[in-house]
Amino acid sequence: MKIHKIERGEEYNARIILGDQQADFSAYAGTKTDYIRKRIASGKGLTVLTEGEEITMIQVLKNEQQADHVLLENARVAAHALHNTLRDLDVTSVLLVSNGVSGKQMCAFLEGLWLTNYRFDKYITRHEVPPYQLDTTAVSCDALTDTDLHLLTIALEGTFFTRDLVNEPLSYLTATKLAEEMQQKSKEAGYTIEVFNKKKIESLRMGGLLAVNKGSVDPPTFSILEWKPDQAVNEKPYVLVGKGVVYDTGGLSLKPTSDSMDYMKCDMGGAAAVAGAMYAIARAKLPVHVIGLVPATDNRPDGNAYVPGDVIRMYDGSTVEVLNTDAEGRMILADALSYAIQYDPGLVIELSTLTGSAHAAVGKYAIVGMGNAGPEAMESLKTSGFNTFERIAEFPFWDDFSELLKSDIADQKNIGGKYAGAITAGKFLEKFTDYPYIHLDIAGPSFNKIQDNYRGIGGSGVGTRLLFDFFRNRTT
Ligand code: BES
Ligand code: ZN
Ligand code: ZN
Repeated sequence: MKIHKIERGEEYNARIILGDQQADFSAYAGTKTDYIRKRIASGKGLTVLTEGEEITMIQVLKNEQQADHVLLENARVAAHALHNTLRDLDVTSVLLVSNGVSGKQMCAFLEGLWLTNYRFDKYITRHEVPPYQLDTTAVSCDALTDTDLHLLTIALEGTFFTRDLVNEPLSYLTATKLAEEMQQKSKEAGYTIEVFNKKKIESLRMGGLLAVNKGSVDPPTFSILEWKPDQAVNEKPYVLVGKGVVYDTGGLSLKPTSDSMDYMKCDMGGAAAVAGAMYAIARAKLPVHVIGLVPATDNRPDGNAYVPGDVIRMYDGSTVEVLNTDAEGRMILADALSYAIQYDPGLVIELSTLTGSAHAAVGKYAIVGMGNAGPEAMESLKTSGFNTFERIAEFPFWDDFSELLKSDIADQKNIGGKYAGAITAGKFLEKFTDYPYIHLDIAGPSFNKIQDNYRGIGGSGVGTRLLFDFFRNRTT
């Protein structure tokens, strides 16, 4: 993937001219200017002009009375559609020219192009048609610096890392492999990583993580990623926690396969988002101290699996009555959240594919967010949600919901009831914190069973661009 400012003498297969409905395209369309005007008037977004070998694509972005974030999303979606045309024409290098559109819109368009261009084809050995890949986008836009394009590239590569991890099946990506993948990337990005093995996790008495792992033949891991630059703007670290259930069968509370268990390789989407964000933050050398925690295991119903009715002593010493082994995410996250206390964090953001309830509430369209970190942090995260179109729908986080988690024989039970499942899951987790805390349930947008525009098919990479934008904004 190459994104850079156009260099003198650089050649390309086609140029894309981006403008809004009022833009003057005559400098690019020559004698076809009237034709272009008519097409724009009739609502056409793209016009392809060819002259000999030269291809010029006139792309119009709608700008009618829309909020800024909608304009940016229009640009990503337009780029997704245009990618098809590039494929048709076998265009592998393009020049993208701003004809009056903002730097942000240009970046959004580039995002749409490159996120569409992503493919996960490592397991395909027989291609029916030779795979098409865009290779280079040269950019002509005065508002954009080399640094802007470098940071955009990093955000995209972080998202691809996240997508790759989510798309990997359990047959490859066990908890150990997940840790190894994050170790591998640490070298390139510059963050440090320590991985606890089962023995260490046992010695720490991480009861939640160990309980979920009991039904598995593969050992759990607990990874600690850290980016601590000298010039950090924050005194207290930010901590990111990601659910790393590399496969969720439900355990003994087994999930039905069809439309339920079959895509549960995505249940480490939170971990993958933390990994992708740490990769991007470190590669961009953002002056911010961030720690990532990733508890990981699969959830399986083997002979020694934890059972409904078990009482588990967690890492923080409190007890949990397990009434459904499919509510395993909160068991492993609880230990990671109490492990985070030692860092005295200024803010902890935890991401997880945690509940079907969140998925049912907002579909693929939003992240369900809640927390006690106060309006500043939540509003700023929501702003990043709009900037990246990884929008956050905030749910209430009232203490009343905790009533639903009362157990007769332990401090809490691991399921609430029929109602408010996304919130009771968040309230369960809050009990393991003593710091400002935001919980993001990404069960809805994390994985696409069918193609969803530039978000693609399979892992969408949700969370990575969101977090990267959030931390960029904190450091500038
Ligand atoms: N991993 C699932 C949640 C999920 C659902 C993720 C859909 C992605 C898409 C989680 O571990 C789970 O099974 N949650 C249960 C909790 C219930 C037993 C309280 C659920 O939501 O049904
Ligand atoms: Zn589950
Ligand atoms: Zn799960």
